[in-house]
Amino acid sequence: MRLLVTGGCGFIGTNFVYMMLRKHPDMVIVNLDKLTYAGNRFNLLPIENEFGGTRYHFVHGDIANAELVAHIITEHKIDAVVNFAAESHVDRSIADCNPFILTNVLGTQVLLDTARRLGLPKFVHVSTDEVYGTLGPTGKFTEETPLAPNSPYSASKASADMLCRAFFETYDFPVTITRCSNNYGPFQFPEKLIPLMIMKASRGESLPVYGDGMNVRDWIYVTDHCRGVELTLLKGKPGQAYNFGGNAEKPNIEVVKTILSALGQPETLINYVKDRPGHDRRYAMDYSMAARELGFEPEYTFERGIAETLEWYKSNEAWMEQVQSGSYRTFMDKWYGERQ
Ligand code: NAD
Ligand code: TYD
Repeated sequence: MRLLVTGGCGFIGTNFVYMMLRKHPDMVIVNLDKLTYAGNRFNLLPIENEFGGTRYHFVHGDIANAELVAHIITEHKIDAVVNFAAESHVDRSIADCNPFILTNVLGTQVLLDTARRLGLPKFVHVSTDEVYGTLGPTGKFTEETPLAPNSPYSASKASADMLCRAFFETYDFPVTITRCSNNYGPFQFPEKLIPLMIMKASRGESLPVYGDGMNVRDWIYVTDHCRGVELTLLKGKPGQAYNFGGNAEKPNIEVVKTILSALGQPETLINYVKDRPGHDRRYAMDYSMAARELGFEPEYTFERGIAETLEWYKSNEAWMEQVQSGSYRTFMDKWYGERQ
């Protein structure tokens, strides 16, 4: 299979490229990435060294560039697209929604349109549980749950999902959607809860917990999500959306305390700050359709996943330093400055 992976220099894309090239010796991957603050070509240096120019090709560019996308698909004889590329952080979408619309909505439309025009037989669009909105204390999201996004980020992802649906219904274009819960693991940018708390705790800095810390997320180790995307690519039904979850619902404060305890740091570092506007209270995924139709089951418990994640960040302090560019610092300083 000759795959166009978009956003392959981000957190999940990086893990996906490693997994697919090692697992499928016949696979060729072209990685189209704009290298925003969240994209890091250095993540895939071992892959460039081992497979560069043969089974792996990197293209620096924007998914919203129709000419470039068409060129890649024809030049590399691509037969499937997996679209990870996105602006992915809720707090940034609250500060400025514009790049979210340009990449997540317009970019997805360009990819869909170009792939359809060139007759591609397979397209996997990577979406999120956040398109369903929020849950009360009980129940789980199923694929039948109506979309009700609450943040500009989730609204942009839901818009892309609607375009995918429309391309299937209108043009019979074979697009399949994955909707997954919160990922964690190696290569996650230190603005999301788990790597941010690991970074701050290991430096003895205070940990900003939004609101009462009782918002619940269903945590999935990143390689379990990558397997879900792989199964969708190989066995997913066109026009279908599949939910993926990690069987690990946790309130944020519990995650934060687990990290502090593992790093031998005191809970006095916890700093409750002003809540995120429109903060979804609880996410939980019913992934029984993916289990039934694709044979998906998460392999990692949260205990194993967080232990491996802590170990990875400990061994990769240089990576943490490297990804902290000026733009990241500016955003974080402003965001937390306003929330103290
Ligand atoms: P990320 O922010 O770590 O990486 C995004 C990547 O996309 C970066 O490499 C960036 O450079 C690239 N990119 C951004 N705009 C682009 C553009 N216009 N053209 C080409 N490349 C562009 O994100 P992530 O956490 O790896 O998430 C990947 C996908 O999975 C996203 O679509 C996200 O919505 C979805 N998702 C993420 C999670 C999670 O917990 N992180 C959960 C469910 C779904
Ligand atoms: P995040 O990692 O941003 O993922 P998402 O908003 O997509 O779920 O946040 C996970 C949870 O952690 C969410 O409830 C918000 C909370 N949170 C904090 O309490 N403090 C923080 O500094 C961050 C980044 C998140």
